[in-house]
Amino acid sequence: MTNFPKIIREWYFQHGRRLPWRETKDPYKIWISEIILQQTRVDQGLAYYHRFIKAFPNVKALADAHETRLMQLWQGLGYYSRARNLHHAAQSIVNEHNGTMPQTYEKIKTLKGIGPYTSAAIASFAFGLPHAVVDGNVYRVLSRYFAKPIPIDSGEGKKFFNSLANNLLDKKDPATHNQAIMDLGAMVCKPANPNCFECPLHQSCAAYATGTQTEYPVKTKRIKKKKRYLHFLIVKNNTHILTERRNNKDIWEGLFQFPLIETPKLTENHEITKMASSLFKTSITTKEILRKKHQLTHQELHATFYNTEIPKESNLAELVNTTSYDITPVNKLHEVPFPQLIQKNLDELLNPT
Ligand code: ADE
Repeated sequence: MTNFPKIIREWYFQHGRRLPWRETKDPYKIWISEIILQQTRVDQGLAYYHRFIKAFPNVKALADAHETRLMQLWQGLGYYSRARNLHHAAQSIVNEHNGTMPQTYEKIKTLKGIGPYTSAAIASFAFGLPHAVVDGNVYRVLSRYFAKPIPIDSGEGKKFFNSLANNLLDKKDPATHNQAIMDLGAMVCKPANPNCFECPLHQSCAAYATGTQTEYPVKTKRIKKKKRYLHFLIVKNNTHILTERRNNKDIWEGLFQFPLIETPKLTENHEITKMASSLFKTSITTKEILRKKHQLTHQELHATFYNTEIPKESNLAELVNTTSYDITPVNKLHEVPFPQLIQKNLDELLNPT
């Protein structure tokens, strides 16, 4: 156990990944990278990171950004509250901290969207402070190495593994130690198929000794995904189309969509026709053009898209009179920040075969 920090450090110098946010001590860039990398793989996150830093090279540029631009840059990453929280925190840094990132773990953690993990990452990578990062990779490595069946999603497990990670931390070089344990988890001690033969720790790993690697980490809950049924109405004429901004506290907050009817279960076309007619207070016909199932981490979305026909005598402006829909030029649709589910299918939706 005492060798743990030394072993992972040596392994990291030989095998660790060179990544752009590891070549800098700029807390702004480190912060952005860590927020992008929550729920996102490194290979996917890299391109987003470069685009984001190019668009907003410093905290002031981010604080001054227009939210729609921010959402465009975030499009496809999911968990859009991360982008809104970045914006909010950038404004706090500019307005309340003279434009510089606070320099202690506790103060960093007061910023919106920054929890214990991100605060430890910024504190250790940018300022060399002795705080262990404990993300999914670290829980996995530690629970296997010590073969500890304490559920990592329980209060007790969080406390136990956080305290263990901090006890093991190399206080002389916390930044390298933290990167090393994360890389070991991401590259070797992988969730389903750990490469134990390549692991520098396998001789002292308790799970390896008993062949129980894949039984760790233990969790109390299995996530049961909530099913949702979304019906999107394509309402357009030759040049314009109806869109709306999602404002409620829900998935995709701040992104745009087509007029939506959500139902608690699978619903037939004639029912949607009735609901659409009552939504627009005029007689509307709907024709299904596309069905897609879309997985989010905690939800399974069943989306159906419909072409709608509106009465000849009514135009889009009249139709939206009593609603909050926007009338968007069709040739500007590619600039609208839609969720992936819509973005990916846009061509097919506009030109159904
Ligand atoms: N995942 C989260 N933070 C990371 C980092 N700094 N390097 C690589 N992967 C990560």
